[in-house]
Amino acid sequence: MSTSSSAEKHLVCVAWPYASGDRHLGHVAGAYLPPDIYARYQRLRGNEVLMVSGSDTHGTPVTVAAAQRGVSYSEIVAYYHGRFVQSFHDLGLSFDLFTHTDTENHWNTTHELFLNHLRNGYLYRDKHLQPYCLVDQRFLADRYIEGICPVCGYPDARGDQCDNCSSIFDATELGQPRCKICGQSEIEMRETEHFFFDLGKASPYLAEWLNQDKEHWRPHVLNYARQQAESGELRGRAITRDIDWGISIPVADFADKVIYVWYDAVQGYLSATREACALQGDPEAWKSWWLDPQVKSLYFIGKDNIPFHTIIWPAMLIADGRGFNLPYDVPANAYLNIEDKKISTSRRWSIDLPYFLSRYDPDPLRYALTINAPETRDVNFTWEEFVRRNNDELVATWGNLVNRTLGFAYKRFDGRVPEPGTLNEIDRALLAESEAAFERVGAEIDAVRLKIALSKAMELAHSANRYLNEKAPWTQIKTDTQAAATTIYVALQVIDRLKILLNPFLPFTTQQLHHYLGYEGDIFGNLSIDEVSDARGTHPVLRYDGSQIEVRWEPGTLPPGQKLNKPAALYKKLEPSIVDEERERLAAHLQQAS
Ligand code: MF3
Ligand code: ZN
Repeated sequence: MSTSSSAEKHLVCVAWPYASGDRHLGHVAGAYLPPDIYARYQRLRGNEVLMVSGSDTHGTPVTVAAAQRGVSYSEIVAYYHGRFVQSFHDLGLSFDLFTHTDTENHWNTTHELFLNHLRNGYLYRDKHLQPYCLVDQRFLADRYIEGICPVCGYPDARGDQCDNCSSIFDATELGQPRCKICGQSEIEMRETEHFFFDLGKASPYLAEWLNQDKEHWRPHVLNYARQQAESGELRGRAITRDIDWGISIPVADFADKVIYVWYDAVQGYLSATREACALQGDPEAWKSWWLDPQVKSLYFIGKDNIPFHTIIWPAMLIADGRGFNLPYDVPANAYLNIEDKKISTSRRWSIDLPYFLSRYDPDPLRYALTINAPETRDVNFTWEEFVRRNNDELVATWGNLVNRTLGFAYKRFDGRVPEPGTLNEIDRALLAESEAAFERVGAEIDAVRLKIALSKAMELAHSANRYLNEKAPWTQIKTDTQAAATTIYVALQVIDRLKILLNPFLPFTTQQLHHYLGYEGDIFGNLSIDEVSDARGTHPVLRYDGSQIEVRWEPGTLPPGQKLNKPAALYKKLEPSIVDEERERLAAHLQQAS
């Protein structure tokens, strides 16, 4: 995209999903949809955006899932990676690049940072005790072991992280450990040698960074990070593992071990930037995204990922020594519950994205998950609320405003934007409100308060409906065609502006509306699934190109006389019967799982 000199650069980093299971609505609301809204908005502002992520292909989440299904590691990775690419495409997530971590470029990046960390004295070798299952005769890394959380006492904590309190720790710290493969507790501690990353050495730098202008951070994220950095308790963490799936360790005598998944996954932000820039034909451009301190890098994640993005990844960036940018913001979200219950993939209490998109349109989902986003606390998704919001808000408020205005213009004004007469007070007030909305909504998106941003845009749709009801152009036209023309002209201007204000949230239907309003161009952008090959194989990637989009985040003027295209409804009313249908489906899953 060509940019003016005042353009800002935003590196939009999105959590890397484990290629071990479908994404569900909790993931979408927490980590995937918010960055897309943010990125689409920044591009409309004329800012330069690079939004990257990919499948997290390593680690015990993948090996455990492969074993459960009786397939190879690479088969399960290819299967879920393909499903992420397709479902993110269908949801309209505008990744400049969505790749995965089993690429040559990512391996090289990981080796490079490892060697820099080693040279700079941030890595050391040490022997430590690791749980070993006497039944299966193997070391139990991470998700091969469960037990009592050393922090909160939750009984089913995994070897590397507690699902209840999000604390991270070593498997050796679990209480009453049991092996996940055989289910037994015949576990002894055996010595094994690993590389450790010295978080303690990084902690003074982390503390210093966290004490510099972080007012825009969400309080729970900042409090956690500062508390960790200042606790004096950060120590070495093992970054290699005794498993047979992962990136090799670039030193001698470690041939039978691999890099710990979290150590390589976070480096995906850097490696994917390189891959994206190379695919865009400028392999050196990645440096500007990581070395120019003017670039804002934002990390969109769920709350369980906070330790890795506010402490571990920043420490790794510091330890590299090249002066890479540290996160500008980490707008972590809380959780989405479904029908008052915590989502659980093992108990199958979940609504998966591919399933959802096989039955419903993407924009209503984007709307429902944003207007009730888990930004400050856990929220609840119910089918009843989904149907209500679709029918009462999208269809009845916004869709209806568009329908009746465009329908009326199309029928009564010869399918053209009418020429207005003199504007009165009420007309000017609504137009002024629509102009001011760009600043009001934009400021909220800049601050990643997307729920308020969307509700402020919807307030304008409400005002426009009130305006139409008050003016009643369908009555005006009987006695005063000019007055009706003015009303429809004003309403069309506001709809044209709402189209832009709502575009980051509702990219599919605003594109449709753009067409009904008689424009030629594109405001969605081109999202394509391409195949990429390297020495490690061929994999599909998702790539976005928004350079054709000409509209900007500013109030435009729809020219009088512009020919409209025949409008059709932007949203479908949903049958209330789907509520029971979907709830029964969930309940049946729960029964099968237990
Ligand atoms: N794969 C991890 C998860 O699903 C997230 C990794 S985000 C990363 O929880 F950037 F660190 F890779
Ligand atoms: Zn816990």
